[in-house]
Amino acid sequence: MNVTISVFPSAAKKPKIPASRLGFGRVFTDHMFIMNYSADHGWHEPRIIPYQPIALDPSAKVFHYGQTVFEGLKAHSTADGRTVLFRPDRHIERLNRSNYRLSIPPIDGELALEAIKRLVAVDRDWIPEEPGTALYIRPFIIATEPALGVAPSAEYRFIIIMSAVGPYYEAGINPVKIYVESNYVRAVAGGVGAAKAAGNYAAGLLAQREAAKEGYAQVLWLDGVHRRYIEEVGSMNVFFKIGDTVLTPALNGSILDGVTRDSVIRLLASWGVRVEERQISIDELERASLDGTLAEAFGTGTAAAVSPIGELCWQGNVWSIGNGRTGTLTARLYETLTGIQTGKAPDPFGWTVEV
Ligand code: COI
Repeated sequence: MNVTISVFPSAAKKPKIPASRLGFGRVFTDHMFIMNYSADHGWHEPRIIPYQPIALDPSAKVFHYGQTVFEGLKAHSTADGRTVLFRPDRHIERLNRSNYRLSIPPIDGELALEAIKRLVAVDRDWIPEEPGTALYIRPFIIATEPALGVAPSAEYRFIIIMSAVGPYYEAGINPVKIYVESNYVRAVAGGVGAAKAAGNYAAGLLAQREAAKEGYAQVLWLDGVHRRYIEEVGSMNVFFKIGDTVLTPALNGSILDGVTRDSVIRLLASWGVRVEERQISIDELERASLDGTLAEAFGTGTAAAVSPIGELCWQGNVWSIGNGRTGTLTARLYETLTGIQTGKAPDPFGWTVEV
């Protein structure tokens, strides 16, 4: 790679927060990466600067038409003193797929990886080491052209910020209660549901708020056409263990191609567990709940890792899963995945990348 990333170090360091008070995505490191795009110069001026607010014209397209995409990946410190990223190549590939769908110019993958590595190296001392913590890396792209015509922006900024994080859910790695949403939908095939577009998350907020009022941590989305087929859960992909088989919805164009989803499928396959990626109806889940074969359920995502589901509520019927306790397979997946990510377990797939 022959592009130079300039580094402008911060004059002062912010105080660190104890791990128990981190929460998720509230505590940001001392530096950020930023790079501009213009039609004349393409992506240019990659630089690492002190973490700071950015000034944008109020007419910037991102504010009006939501032309923005993001990623989320993690860095960990290992017991033997290394700093590792988890599958950054997959995240960068997906960022460029999201870019394509939102008509944002692609980013050179090698440059993006170098930017992430350099930024993590500069703020390495922010990586928390307590179990369940990580350095969460949030690359995102915003359309900055000051113009109100509905057309792809001629200017963008690619920014990477980083946050020292604890568990995503307040419940930590305890099972969460999920509300099966039958009123609102998240996405339809042909739309932007498979992209990591900010609007997908905005579209879910009302349902999430209504579910929260009933005591549910997230919603389980059904497909937008039949309102019968499982899509994903909140901001995670979803898996169900029915009998001895693990089921997860196939990538159908409206759900996210999760990096953790792929990792879990590959881990399960390597353990000889039967995994089916296919259409799953809510009726199939109901039958499995009634006949006692719905043994485990969990969500997967970078932020939450593997998050057990202890209860589903579907049209007033409450299905307890595994007596509301974390299933054996779910726990094994959590331990193995986070073990690989933190260097505590071997990495037979070569998923970790050293900084
Ligand atoms: C992630 O799991 O990294 C996500 O992007 C989900 C969420 C925090 C928006």
